[in-house]
Amino acid sequence: MTGHATAVRTIPTVGSWPVLGCLPDLIRRKESFWADAHREHGDIFHLDLGVTGLVAVSHPRHAQHVLIENARNYVDKGGPTGFRATLLPLTGQGLSTIDVEDGHWRSRRDLVGPAFRQGALKSMTDHMAQLVDAHTAAWPAAPDGAGTGLDVVPHVTTAVTTALAELLYGAPITGHEIRRVSRAFDQIMNYMWVGMLASVVPSWLPFPGRRRQRQAIGVIEDVVLGVVARRDRSRAAHAPELLDILSAAERELDAEGLRDEAVSLLLGAEPLAISVSWALHLLARHPEVQQAAFTEVDGVLAGRCPRFEDLSALPYVRMVLKEALRLCPPTYWVQRRAARDDVIDGVAVPAGTNVVVLIHRIHAHPGIWEAPERFDPQRFAPERSASRHRQAWIPFGSGRRGCVAREFSMTLGHLILTEALQRYEFAPHPQRTPALTVAANLRPRSGVWLAARRRAAG
Ligand code: HEM
Repeated sequence: MTGHATAVRTIPTVGSWPVLGCLPDLIRRKESFWADAHREHGDIFHLDLGVTGLVAVSHPRHAQHVLIENARNYVDKGGPTGFRATLLPLTGQGLSTIDVEDGHWRSRRDLVGPAFRQGALKSMTDHMAQLVDAHTAAWPAAPDGAGTGLDVVPHVTTAVTTALAELLYGAPITGHEIRRVSRAFDQIMNYMWVGMLASVVPSWLPFPGRRRQRQAIGVIEDVVLGVVARRDRSRAAHAPELLDILSAAERELDAEGLRDEAVSLLLGAEPLAISVSWALHLLARHPEVQQAAFTEVDGVLAGRCPRFEDLSALPYVRMVLKEALRLCPPTYWVQRRAARDDVIDGVAVPAGTNVVVLIHRIHAHPGIWEAPERFDPQRFAPERSASRHRQAWIPFGSGRRGCVAREFSMTLGHLILTEALQRYEFAPHPQRTPALTVAANLRPRSGVWLAARRRAAG
């Protein structure tokens, strides 16, 4: 399995079209493409993408190898290809897209990392809870009866983005700005696969969608720089560590570096908002789980706003969030490029190969998860998790480049779910039931519509 092992088998290839490989199939079938490829070819296969190719790996022990044990061979995030090709013009040298783990990455991680650590969280959670409280209270829902149709995505996005802007930049962000960023980000993610083709065409040549892509990037930049300009350092009392990121960045980085970091961090709102929206959708479809969550929330809080200390007494709600992140991980793969020849599970991986760790396939692996398609938060109960492979659940990635805001995201998501459950009861919308998707285009096009009605105590 390791780099010292010998290659013993050939790798199956997925891809049927000349020049384009499997891209047409991938764009057309999205979800089923990956599940079928995994079922047909096993845990490791080669993806022919026409202009480029990838080795896709789908077992927790592969994640262990690529992201942890042999991580030094996989420090390169894949150059100007893959997800990175789509995000690079947007986040540039921001922490999430810095390519090679050199001193440059280390100093950025040292700049950003400490502000998100557990200790720092304690000081900001109560303020976060108040912000979330104000937002969830205003969701439009029927006082009684069958419930009002509610697309939870924009509401959750507003709660998450407002909290993030307030805590990171000490600045308010308007609903209009949030909608502009969301639409632009949507546009960028929809361009992802085409962007991979475009990455081999010189940037000065016209390419379908390229102009709109540039416009979308301009919109995000415009909004983020506008918010940062409104920064009010006097609000630092609530989250001094997070606000310090930007102040330190101002001292250490040029204007471009500051912009890249500010954009890179605010975009973290998207995956979090989508995860929480899917969690609400899953609760709506599983009334018994929702009931168990009501019992926990009501027993601990009895209607009051949660505090940092309360979260440890609300483990079931956290398990709901973890299970939603398992079933629909918003970052559905992470990409690396092999620096030297390697062998993964008996398959030769030559230097220069792009390797993608398929998070969503690992999360649905039938050899690891019992009935993987079933929504079952109890699978994260300590007694059922103890013997599970440590890389079986990796929505935040793993190893040194794992998500810098993992605990922050879990805390904010936990708070939003708790507040929503205190106030509302959710049921599937009678006419609009979205198909649960691995977030191939992060934001579900048709939204996540639910029937929501106010709870008596809410
Ligand atoms: C549910 C929410 C989130 C998910 C599922 C998520 C997922 C991920 C994943 C999978 C990675 C690793 C990428 C790789 O290995 O190539 C990552 C890295 C990162 N995330 Fe998140 N993320 C979330 C929220 C956030 C938030 C809220 C922020 C910012 C406030 C953020 C900032 C970052 C940064 C800066 C990195 C790069 C870290 C490094 O390379 O050193 N993420 N995230």
